[in-house]
Amino acid sequence: MNEKSGGFIGVFDSGVGGISVLRALVSELPGEDFRFFGDSANAPYGEKTEDQVLALSCGIVGRFLADGAKAIVIACNTATSVAAKALRDAHPGVPIVGIEPALKPAAHALPHGRVLVMATEVTLRLEKYHELVRAWGGECDVVPVPCPGLAARIERGDLGAPDLIEMVRGYVGAYAGKVDGVVLGCTHYPFVRRQIAEVLGAGVRFFDGGAGTAR
Ligand code: DGL
Repeated sequence: MNEKSGGFIGVFDSGVGGISVLRALVSELPGEDFRFFGDSANAPYGEKTEDQVLALSCGIVGRFLADGAKAIVIACNTATSVAAKALRDAHPGVPIVGIEPALKPAAHALPHGRVLVMATEVTLRLEKYHELVRAWGGECDVVPVPCPGLAARIERGDLGAPDLIEMVRGYVGAYAGKVDGVVLGCTHYPFVRRQIAEVLGAGVRFFDGGAGTAR
């Protein structure tokens, strides 16, 4: 039996990136109803102020709850870093699940490796990220790589265009052949994993938080 238990799960991101998490959610919880909101009109969040990201996130969650959501998934690392705590405080009866860069599985798989954490400037600036590195970075050489402009470029589509690989080269080209793993710490980045792999060279392992969030 695959009965739906009333209400839907509201999933949101600044834009299309959250679809990478939605894919994992649908595969983990095939019996649930999901509604996805990608706030492409206001993307990218990763280059906004914290107050702006907080206000946008609260607005989306408020609308989901007014429409009958029984749970919320913040499918955005940036919005999770900025707003998860405030949202949980404001809605204590509602399960609110966030996403964070998948450093824990990366450090587990590559205990002495060099691991790049690609994410937005906001995600890498906030204390939540530094706590994550202290808690789970272990013996890894953890290298934060902010990628300003990348989520906005992914929003525009045409992911096979040559400008995109050049953009990726600008962020990570200096690490080609010198890293063991990459944490995709923004939900937009799984859509350019192939381009990142092409720049960094063979043998690099990738980690993203979609499946862990779904579980
Ligand atoms: N997809 C979002 C994240 O996971 C943010 C991208 C953006 O809007 O800057 O951080």
